[in-house]
Order: sequence, then C-alpha cells, then structure tokens
Amino acid sequence: MNKHLDSLHPYPFEKLNGLVADVTPPEGKKPISLALGEPTHRTPTFLIDAYCDPEMIANGFGTYPPTKGLLELREAIANFVTTRFNLSRAIDAGTEVLPVNGTREALFAIAQVLINGSGLTFIPNPFYQIYEGAAILAGSTTRFIPCDEANNFNPDFSEITKAEWEACSLVYLCTPGNPSGSIMSIEDLQYVIRKSDEYKFAIVSDECYSEIYSKNPPPGLLEAASAMGRHDYKNCIAFNSLSKRSNLPGLRSGYACGDSEILEKFLLYRTYHGSAMPIQNQRLSALAWEEEQHTIENRSLYAEKYEAFLKIVNPVWPMQQPDAGFYLWPKTPIRDEEFTLQLLAQTNVKVVPGSYLAREVNGVNPGANRVRLAMVPELEKCVEAAQRIKHFLEHLR
Ligand SMILES: Cc1ncc(COP(=O)(O)O)c(C=O)c1O
Repeated sequence: MNKHLDSLHPYPFEKLNGLVADVTPPEGKKPISLALGEPTHRTPTFLIDAYCDPEMIANGFGTYPPTKGLLELREAIANFVTTRFNLSRAIDAGTEVLPVNGTREALFAIAQVLINGSGLTFIPNPFYQIYEGAAILAGSTTRFIPCDEANNFNPDFSEITKAEWEACSLVYLCTPGNPSGSIMSIEDLQYVIRKSDEYKFAIVSDECYSEIYSKNPPPGLLEAASAMGRHDYKNCIAFNSLSKRSNLPGLRSGYACGDSEILEKFLLYRTYHGSAMPIQNQRLSALAWEEEQHTIENRSLYAEKYEAFLKIVNPVWPMQQPDAGFYLWPKTPIRDEEFTLQLLAQTNVKVVPGSYLAREVNGVNPGANRVRLAMVPELEKCVEAAQRIKHFLEHLR
C-alpha cells in the first residue's frame, strides 16, 4: 500500500454526513442543501441540442480520443483564455493548452508531475481539499497559507521563511477563492510569480469560479504574467472548468493552460494515466468555450439569488455578496458545527461548517465559526432557505 494514503483526510462532506447522521430534521419541511457547490442552473439548450447529434456520438464512441485534445477544442480554449484574460500574446493552441476531465482530476494530477517526492506544497487555507490530497500522495509536505479576513481572505505569504520558499516546489492558488469568493489582484499574483523565479517553483492557479462574478471579471494568473511582459508564462499554469461557467458539472470538462514546458510533461503523464476526454465531450466543450451569452445569463441568475437571499437574512445575520463565486462565508454566532447541527435539526437547511474546509495551524482553524452557504438551488429554494434561516436566528439562544 502507498503509505501516504493513511495521511489523507476524510472529505468535508463525509465529515458533514457523520456530524448530521443522528439529526432528525423537522417533518413537513423539505430538505434544502446549501452545502454542496454543485451548480444546478439548467445546462444551455444549444449545448444539449448539439449533444443530441447521433453522428457525433457514433463517431465519438468509435474512436480512441487524443489525450492532447482535438485542435478545435484547443483553439476554442486558447481563444477564450487570450480574450478573457487580455493576453498581449495569444495562447498557442499547439503547446500551451490541454483539455482535462474537469479540474478536479487535473488539479490532482498536476502535483504528480511537479513534485519530486519531497519538498513543500503551499496551499491556501481554507482550501479545496484536492490540493492537499494531491500534495500528500505525491510525497510532499503541505504548508498552509492563511487566507484570513484581515487579508481580505487572500493568501498572506508574509510569514513564509526563506527556507520554506527554498523547499517549495508547487504553490496552489484559488482565485476567485472557495469558500470566500475573494479575488487576488494582478499585483498579488505577480508577487507569487516573482517568487517563483527566485525560488524555482511552479504555480497552479485554480480559476474555476472566474466567470461567476458580481461586477468586474476577476484577473487570472496568465493575465498577471502577460501584464509583466512574461509571454512564455513560465512557471504558470491556470486551470478552469465548464462546470460552473456553463453549468456542465456532469460533462467533466476543463483546461490547463500556460507554461509549455510544464504542459509537455503533463501531457506525457496524462498519456500514461489514461485521461483523454471522449471526442463528443471535446466537441461540445469547444462550443461551450466559444459562447458567452449563456455565461451572462448565468451570472444574472446568481445575482438575483444573492439579492433575494441577503435581503431576507441580512437584518438578522449581516453578510455581503462576495466579489465572485457562488458562496457566502459568514461568521456564526455559535460554533460552526453546532450551528450546522441546530440549523439542520430545526429548519432542514444544510450548510457546511467552515472548520471542515480548513486546517488548524498553530492552534487556529481559519474556517472555525464560519459556515459556507452555496447559492446553488433555484431562486425559490434560496428564498425559502433564507426565510427559515432568518426565523432560526431570531430564535437562537
Ligand atoms: C475550488 C474548486 N476547484 C475545482 C473544483 C472542481 O471542479 P470540476 O472538477 O467540476 O472542474 C471545484 C468544485 O467544486 C472547486 O470548488
């Protein structure tokens, strides 16, 4: 057995299921989950129609797909990234893009390429748990970077020692952040890029919430690199996904884009790992990356839900819509686990305790006494959840 398997933590939802196993929610109140970050807006009709083409499916089923991806998909991604992130040198579809089967598998797999069986991996805290498992299984040691309110929930690298920078082989960033929805600025991203030159490590930026924003499109890692005249995107790989952008979590489709030397090795790894995307999924993904109108509509659905939810909840539980993403990350008036339990027991609304999404470092868990609420159910359910939560808070002792 791989000895590192023993170091993996249970997934947050596994812990949540354990926590609430004995709770009997009130009868007559239908369950509403704000726990899982699974988009539920309807997949755009033009994509469903396109997928109903028997010829495309027959062709896809009858072919081993290329791991590198079809040119039409790589070009669609390259155009999206170049335009969306204002790149002054267009992404090369031949060498700087790889399709992935959702960012989850790819964020995991890239660590197996970039880590040499030891060293440190920097991970924002709180964080998407895949980064941690990827680093552990690749044989490196995790170094959590606090993302506290004092730093607008962005990673604060100020306490990292020279020895830690020297030992670092991979830095994970998540911008917009899960769970906070905060956005790293171009300057913050450039700080990490400059460190990568000084200390020779790779940066993996998970940008899968980049298209769910409230006002301005969040910048990305490649945009920050481009703005400093770094046209080879050295050390920089951005990951993005159609799951949130296009409401296609079941398609399993995303990209890795950036440093061609890293991507060449990543392609080699993926060839052995056997992670080619089925042809029909590649064709559909190309159509999705080429179309923007549906993402505008998607954002307006989230805006509508945030507005309705906050209007009801804010008088008793003040919180703000984040700059991006589809979560809320408020403080709880009682311990986060206790809050989650009582809320479920009294209202049948499920949320995630913040401490499950973070690790305790030096006696502090940055997720403690917060909960994550995902604005993913349809508007009526979000409104219903808000009303139940308001009533719950008004009666909370
Ligand atoms: C921060 C973050 N990264 C990556 C993912 C994975 O998304 P997918 O594999 O659907 O692209 C998620 C999913 O919830 C996420 O929250």
